[in-house]
Amino acid sequence: MVSPPSLFDVEAHSSVVNEILQRLAPTGSFAAHKRAVTHSLSSERLPVTILVTGTTGTLGSAFLANLVDDISVAKIYAFNRPGRAGTSCVDRQKDGLVEAGFALTYAESPKVVFVEGDITKEGIEVKGEKGVFDEMRNSVTHIVHNAWPVNLAVKVTKFERMLGSLRTLIDFALAAARNPRFIFVSSVAALQNYPTEPIPERLLPIEAALGTGYGESKWIGEEMLRRAHAETGLEIVIARVAQLCGNRQTGVWRTNDSVPAVAQIALAVGVMPVIEGRCEWLPIDVGARCLRELVFHSDPPVVVHLVHPSPTIFQRIWVMLAKEVGIQKIEPLALWIKRIGSISTSESIPNSSMSASTSFLINLITSMWAGRDGPASYFTAVIECKLALEACPSLHYVPPLNERDVAKWVKYWKEAGILSEVSKAKL
Ligand SMILES: NC(=O)c1ccc[n+]([C@@H]2O[C@H](COP(=O)([O-])OP(=O)(O)OC[C@H]3O[C@@H](n4cnc5c(N)ncnc54)[C@H](OP(=O)(O)O)[C@@H]3O)[C@@H](O)[C@H]2O)c1
Repeated sequence: MVSPPSLFDVEAHSSVVNEILQRLAPTGSFAAHKRAVTHSLSSERLPVTILVTGTTGTLGSAFLANLVDDISVAKIYAFNRPGRAGTSCVDRQKDGLVEAGFALTYAESPKVVFVEGDITKEGIEVKGEKGVFDEMRNSVTHIVHNAWPVNLAVKVTKFERMLGSLRTLIDFALAAARNPRFIFVSSVAALQNYPTEPIPERLLPIEAALGTGYGESKWIGEEMLRRAHAETGLEIVIARVAQLCGNRQTGVWRTNDSVPAVAQIALAVGVMPVIEGRCEWLPIDVGARCLRELVFHSDPPVVVHLVHPSPTIFQRIWVMLAKEVGIQKIEPLALWIKRIGSISTSESIPNSSMSASTSFLINLITSMWAGRDGPASYFTAVIECKLALEACPSLHYVPPLNERDVAKWVKYWKEAGILSEVSKAKL
């Protein structure tokens, strides 16, 4: 792959990213932790007591279900921000489990301790139960930081609060009694600007990550952890995750993701976009199993790419989607984005489970997909996953995405009411 001319001001992006990093985690700032961290033997960490952030989301829910099922997991602290409109954590967890294709009863497991609170730059605030903070600090053997706003449309400065939380969580890990392993759920977006291929499973320089604020924020997170590891010996694992697609068994793929949004709008305009490159989408259930395998691994790599090990030609997936949704015509993404830009944005898509307005869907699609079919796209690059394959047995057993997978996704979206003839007629 030839390095493309950058479509943004590299210097300006790099300077903002560096500024945030310097403010939150200047070099040497972790060394202040008096006790140098030593790796605990895996056997000393059994049974596992794990703190997971963002369990109400899709990957968090699938991961939680996996942990509940594992007899070597004693306790799961499911740490989530307070819900809007006072909804309880347990209720939000139940919704999350169903949206990820798992039974809501996982939320009722006696192993799960729901912790509602905020992790801010200043510290961890826990609502409700007294003593739970100390309990977590004294007992956790693993921390999996999964919570993150998945928003590709905003600048990196919008992630500063989240990055402040990450700093707090690292400090928490460094002060914790049992030398927890820190697993950070990153994204392949953190290597969105890497100039050559294959893209290696190692920590990368800042230039690799420049582009969207989301990818830049994940790079800052990775670099904060690299510094903490270098200065204290904290054990870190960075899992760069590819786009997660529907559950392999059930086809469940949450309806408010960008791919179902493409399917909805495509049905409405009668044309499916086609994107070139390699499709490295990983089924969500496989992604969650891989995370569990990283928890139990005796000596995991520092960086792994949780991508599909046998990528499919992207174009094939879009053609299969078109066929399954019932669309005859396809066209290149850039043309399609222009086409949908001209449709009415005031209409709602009826029968949509999320009652999303057309403009919401179009914004979601353009922020996720526009500009992704050029040579600058990491969609065209080979992303190495050799270390992930060694560390995560589940990756071995995932066949290439095929017609059956696509049919299951579409069946699920149809049952969820987002792909209906009514929406087609209205637009
Ligand atoms: N899905 C993908 O294709 C994909 C691909 C690559 C990487 N990832 C990474 O995987 C992780 C999970 O993603 P997901 O797809 O499961 O996303 P998701 O369904 O949107 O869930 C995100 C989780 O993070 C929480 N969260 C979001 N913003 C937060 C904030 N400002 N403060 C505290 N908590 C916040 C959410 O809480 P609420 O329920 O309260 O909103 C939710 O629990 C993220 O780190 C994401 O970057 C996902």
